[in-house]
Amino acid sequence: MSGSASPTLDESSTMSEHQNNLRAMNYGVYVVTSQWGDKVNGLTAAWASQVSLMPPMVAVAIDKRWYSHELLSGGEHFTVNVLADDQVSLGKHFGSKSGRTTDKLGGVEWKPGVNGVPRLKGCRAWIECRKIDSLSTGDHTLFIGEVLASELDGAKTGQVYDRGAYYG
Ligand SMILES: Cc1cc2nc3c(=O)[nH]c(=O)nc-3n(C[C@H](O)[C@H](O)[C@H](O)COP(=O)(O)O)c2cc1C
Repeated sequence: MSGSASPTLDESSTMSEHQNNLRAMNYGVYVVTSQWGDKVNGLTAAWASQVSLMPPMVAVAIDKRWYSHELLSGGEHFTVNVLADDQVSLGKHFGSKSGRTTDKLGGVEWKPGVNGVPRLKGCRAWIECRKIDSLSTGDHTLFIGEVLASELDGAKTGQVYDRGAYYG
């Protein structure tokens, strides 16, 4: 067989090209809240998706370096707060500092959901999960949750990730 059809390990220049090209993928914006013992936190995440219809399941990809990774690894529940289009500042708040050094939930309006994990006020929807599995995926871990409860605010529009709004 001729040509270079077989995949090989990428040179770093090709890797950065992939990273650039993968930015063409479209995402929503979410704050994933978590709880482990007496520790609670939330982080902004774009890499989230529904992964099963029946039973309903969602998955979130979390960088192994983040404080949320500790809480999601140790805890049994998490909530996907679906940000509304007027909540970019909330996305920046939860996506720009670590819960290791900052109480990100302090000063933010929230209440506990049925899974005990914070539900943030003003979101488009809340998807309250019980963690059922996790999968190591490179430098991230995919945390998979079965949906225990969910609620939608039909008056809100969900936020579509706009890189310029966050990093422009
Ligand atoms: C718009 C946006 C999307 C993000 N998406 C993700 C993501 O999908 N997964 C992830 O691990 N981090 C993501 N981050 C980075 C984390 O939110 C950020 O590093 C955060 O400060 C980690 O907080 P923690 O250490 O309290 O968990 C995103 C940040 C922003 C602003």
